Amino acid sequence: MRSYIFTGVLYESLLRVTTSEQGIDLNSLLNIFNKEMMMAEFTEQQIQANKTRFLDLVNGITREGVDKERLIAQLTTSDFFDAPASAIYHNACRGGLCAHCLNVYDWLTKLVADAAAMTSQEPYSEDTIRIVALFHDFDKMNKYERSFRNVKVYSPTGSKFDEMGKFDWQSVPSYKLKEDSQVFSIGTHGANSVYMTETFIPLSTEEHCAILNHSGVYDNPKLNTTGIYSKYHLACLLHLADMAATYVSESQ
Ligand SMILES: [Fe+2]
Ligand SMILES: [Fe+2]
Repeated sequence: MRSYIFTGVLYESLLRVTTSEQGIDLNSLLNIFNKEMMMAEFTEQQIQANKTRFLDLVNGITREGVDKERLIAQLTTSDFFDAPASAIYHNACRGGLCAHCLNVYDWLTKLVADAAAMTSQEPYSEDTIRIVALFHDFDKMNKYERSFRNVKVYSPTGSKFDEMGKFDWQSVPSYKLKEDSQVFSIGTHGANSVYMTETFIPLSTEEHCAILNHSGVYDNPKLNTTGIYSKYHLACLLHLADMAATYVSESQ
């Protein structure tokens, strides 16, 4: 399980940092980390603030042909504002998906401005930034369900033992993907997201390409990234914004 491997790496780092310190209980630190990783939650206030900000950004979209009424009805009658961004990898908690999309929006806003300042390219419009960032992961709506997973809780009285010490298994709340038969899918994660977005918002070819290919080779191992990202810079910038949101903003 990836989370246990990651926990092991953290444990080794803690060990290196704290071996000369007095009175530090490594098992306590490790258990705190375990619980934070598995059960991290946004507060109700944060979830509501993110929902308000997300809907304000959607309401500000001026694209001709956008069906905002139906789009907002879809968002607010689904689990979009409660859903996690992933089952275990990042923002795997209630409200994680909305928070992730806002992080991608913030990163993309900065990347587009920087790219325009460093090249002769015109910056992408605010509408374009909002649409591709906020809906790049539309496919994750109604896709996860609550579950439980086992984590190792280390203590001197643990009944089991591994290279890190004594531990017991503990069941903690988590998420898992629903069965295939329960979710909408026409293809890859990117294909699902762009299809769902175009149900409500007319997209340019470049916007379509950006949402379709935002996960790069993670979604499509045969993707011609050189061909796609050099021709459609928005796709490259959205991919970078998604990576930065996931691995920089959401793994602190
Ligand atoms: Fe994605
Ligand atoms: Fe994403």
